[in-house]
Amino acid sequence: MTDVTLKINGETRSAAVPPETTLLKMLRESFSLTGAKLGCDVGDCGACTVIVDGLPVNSCLMLAGQADGREVLTIEGLATPDHLHPIQKTFEDCASLQCGFCGPGVIMSSKALLDANPNPSVAEIRDALAGNLCRCTGYTKMIEAVQQAAQVMRSAKSKRAA
Ligand code: FES
Ligand code: FES
Repeated sequence: MTDVTLKINGETRSAAVPPETTLLKMLRESFSLTGAKLGCDVGDCGACTVIVDGLPVNSCLMLAGQADGREVLTIEGLATPDHLHPIQKTFEDCASLQCGFCGPGVIMSSKALLDANPNPSVAEIRDALAGNLCRCTGYTKMIEAVQQAAQVMRSAKSKRAA
């Protein structure tokens, strides 16, 4: 077994898992964080996207042991009990998801993008979402939601700075 200790959504968590366990499997089965989805299991669909040390990763391709000592943010870490994260809210407002299966991955890719680039162009948003496959909605409404979220997050930041 491999002992893994990492910070997930701000909380230190530990588990002992077989060495071949992926980060996705550990999140879902050891910690009951089932927001990240198992789609293709080979790095093609992005449904398993989480943020590790600030970067979006396909958690189906990362071994749990590789996440030892690192900081992981999952979709469960975004909302507070009272408020959706601005990205979740604009995805809801823009009706950007239908079945929702791709949603956690798309939203985490969007979050990583907006953390690194608060004012992305449409091309940059497309590029950031290129690894997230959606079989229902298409990308126009997702791009609109990311643009709106960027605006909300920028204005919240400038209010905080004032
Ligand atoms: S489940 Fe990880 S990329 Fe598809
Ligand atoms: S909303 Fe169904 S896969 Fe994207």
